[in-house]
Amino acid sequence: MPQLSSHALAALHEFYAEQQVKNTLSTSHGLTNQSFGSVEEDWQLSQFWYTEETALKLAEEAIAAAGKGGRIACLSSPSVYQKLKDLKREDCSACLLEYDKRFSVHGDDFVFYDYNYPLDLPKNVEANSFDIVVADPPYLSNECLGKTAETIKYLTKGKILLCTGAVMEDAAASILGVKMCQFIPQHTRHLANEFRCYANYDCGLDP
Ligand SMILES: C[S@@+](CC[C@H](N)C(=O)[O-])C[C@H]1O[C@@H](n2cnc3c(N)ncnc32)[C@H](O)[C@@H]1O
Repeated sequence: MPQLSSHALAALHEFYAEQQVKNTLSTSHGLTNQSFGSVEEDWQLSQFWYTEETALKLAEEAIAAAGKGGRIACLSSPSVYQKLKDLKREDCSACLLEYDKRFSVHGDDFVFYDYNYPLDLPKNVEANSFDIVVADPPYLSNECLGKTAETIKYLTKGKILLCTGAVMEDAAASILGVKMCQFIPQHTRHLANEFRCYANYDCGLDP
């Protein structure tokens, strides 16, 4: 019997594992408890997924704000990106900038991003090339918001939709010029901190 080398066998295992994640993600019909597709929350990475309703609301808001042919950047907000994909809109495109490499299954749409290095982005991610940036930084601190804001300002043509704690309201207003919206984002898990959405434009998240 012909046999595969150990390297070939390892590569084959890796390929099957990746395919399995890919299949689960592409057949996911939304968020389930603490996971979407096979992507479980990793608390080490401060991951708290939105409910399906919230992910849909934010995705629809991003589409409306981006306009026809618009480009949407999802910064540390993978469930909004996933919802945009699920909606299969042909009149806009989305990109996911994320630290968690499990999302690299999204191929060219995935850009590795670490908020500690705000402008350390690939050359093809050009300045002011997104109609809207949707961001949900991993930590409730001025340091994290400040660094994330550098990336947001680099990416956006103007519009910003930020989700973070209510405690960050003043910092978000002074760093990014965003105002709190009335819509309250919900997570699949109860969080100790109140979360809110903030925008710097007339936003559909206010009635
Ligand atoms: C509070 S969660 C926001 C997720 C959002 N609620 C959702 O459902 O899509 C924070 C996000 O930041 C990402 N993250 C963790 N460490 C990061 C880092 N060093 N740089 C950038 N993003 C990071 C996490 O993987 C996670 O997706």
